[in-house]
Amino acid sequence: MNYVKSKQRVADHGEVFTPPWLVEAMLDLVKAETERIDSRFLEPACGSGNFLVRVLQRKLAAVELKYGKSEFGKRHYALFALMCCYGIELLADNIAECRTNMLEIFTDYLDLDEADELYRAASYVLSQNLVHGDALKMRTHDDQPITFAEWGYLGKGKFQRRDFRLDVLTGSSAFSAQGSLFAHLGRHEIFTPTKTYPPMTVRELAALAAPAAASLPIEEA
Ligand SMILES: C[S@@+](CC[C@H](N)C(=O)[O-])C[C@H]1O[C@@H](n2cnc3c(N)ncnc32)[C@H](O)[C@@H]1O
Repeated sequence: MNYVKSKQRVADHGEVFTPPWLVEAMLDLVKAETERIDSRFLEPACGSGNFLVRVLQRKLAAVELKYGKSEFGKRHYALFALMCCYGIELLADNIAECRTNMLEIFTDYLDLDEADELYRAASYVLSQNLVHGDALKMRTHDDQPITFAEWGYLGKGKFQRRDFRLDVLTGSSAFSAQGSLFAHLGRHEIFTPTKTYPPMTVRELAALAAPAAASLPIEEA
């Protein structure tokens, strides 16, 4: 495996990928969390997904153990596992690779093809959860504040989504510090979503996915 794409990228962006043995050792430090379907992981410099891919694989192993015998349960909890993986990456090629790598793990596990609505729902979730942007500035590549979706599985095929700004979430510890001007604010005031969605099914999530390039008219592809 190649851990460096170019000397220039190492100098410009500190881009050195983590070897698999080190990923495993680091994830083992929080083993129980990696094996929980609904634990949330954010990799703020995710590269092509060396950590996120292994987190997803561990979560999917937990899905298999718990829901492997139910096609419905397996499909929905696998999507929920994917919904709990988040990343930010500065470079366009890396974030594209990361989304592709995550989608491949997911579709291989469920043996999906592109026509399956679960495939398209997963593509949509990845487009929301894996952000092309700057984790230090907490802004997207087109200079919008980074916002993350908090996904929940309500059961019976329905997912809940609420959006939160990353700068608010990361600043919340300062708000609650003793003596802080904001210490009197309740958690509910800090954790106010920027948007709350009605519950959505896999079909509804799939409808939000960008159309596959192949099905676009040539001038838009
Ligand atoms: C040391 S590499 C690690 C990549 C991956 N986490 C891994 O372990 O293989 C650091 C990554 O962070 C990205 N990066 C650098 N500065 C960043 C920033 N301000 N926001 C988001 N990503 C950044 C680089 O492009 C690079 O892909």
